[in-house]
Amino acid sequence: MKNTTTTIKAQKGTENKISMITAYDYSMAKLVDSAGVNTILVGDSLGNVMLGYEDTVSVTMEDMIHHSAAVARGAKNALVVTDMPFMSYQTSVYDAVVNAGRLMKEGRAGAVKLEGGVEVCPQIKAITAAGIPVCAHLGLTPQSINTLGGYKIQGKTEEAAKKLLDDARAVEEAGAFALVLECVPKKLATLITESIGIPTIGIGAGNGCDGQVLVNQDMLGMFTDYVPKFVKQYANVGEIIKNAVADYINEINTGAFPDDARSYKIDDEVIEKLY
Ligand code: KIV
Repeated sequence: MKNTTTTIKAQKGTENKISMITAYDYSMAKLVDSAGVNTILVGDSLGNVMLGYEDTVSVTMEDMIHHSAAVARGAKNALVVTDMPFMSYQTSVYDAVVNAGRLMKEGRAGAVKLEGGVEVCPQIKAITAAGIPVCAHLGLTPQSINTLGGYKIQGKTEEAAKKLLDDARAVEEAGAFALVLECVPKKLATLITESIGIPTIGIGAGNGCDGQVLVNQDMLGMFTDYVPKFVKQYANVGEIIKNAVADYINEINTGAFPDDARSYKIDDEVIEKLY
């Protein structure tokens, strides 16, 4: 079944929870799509796991368009949600609409995601008014790492928790179709989920949300520079890759690869005439 913002919204409050996973290229998009994931996030986390930056601040519109288009080519049924990178929407409402439009037209996204609450509501309103669905993102918002002062759990004081709840209501009111909650205490994320009419998708926010998202490379054991507490590793693909490549190197050295079954033949008479 083809997933759309309408089907994702209809999953709110049901037992059919929303599954979201990041992907950044065609092959991985095809794999996660065929596993049946509802939505693929082309996250700006690609700055960390694909490009090796220490944060997402340096990620550009060109990076996002390049990876989003590759994912869109591999995603048959999953809704592709593409992150708006740092400074592509904070600068003005006009920039936000133009850049969201580029992610749809050139990156072939089905929706865009941006970070922030009340302060980005004018952008959410204008982008949705232009016919582009917006997923909001609250809690730990990695693009603001320089003001947050580190990758920490958010909303722990009464004031911070109240602000998160207000922001969640505001982004819904502005027109967001879904809300990612990152690094928020489970009870607060559950309360937010119960207090708004759009689905919440948690990452480090407990199982009271309407869905969950994880970074592909984290949950498959392919990125180990740092592993947040909330990550569950469902497979150690990193180890499988390392072992396979070590076998390959060994077989090159022994001559076991390529064997005759993987080589091409020529008539002996042709070869003999060349000696
Ligand atoms: O960029 C990303 O992968 C994200 C998820 C962590 C939600 O925003």
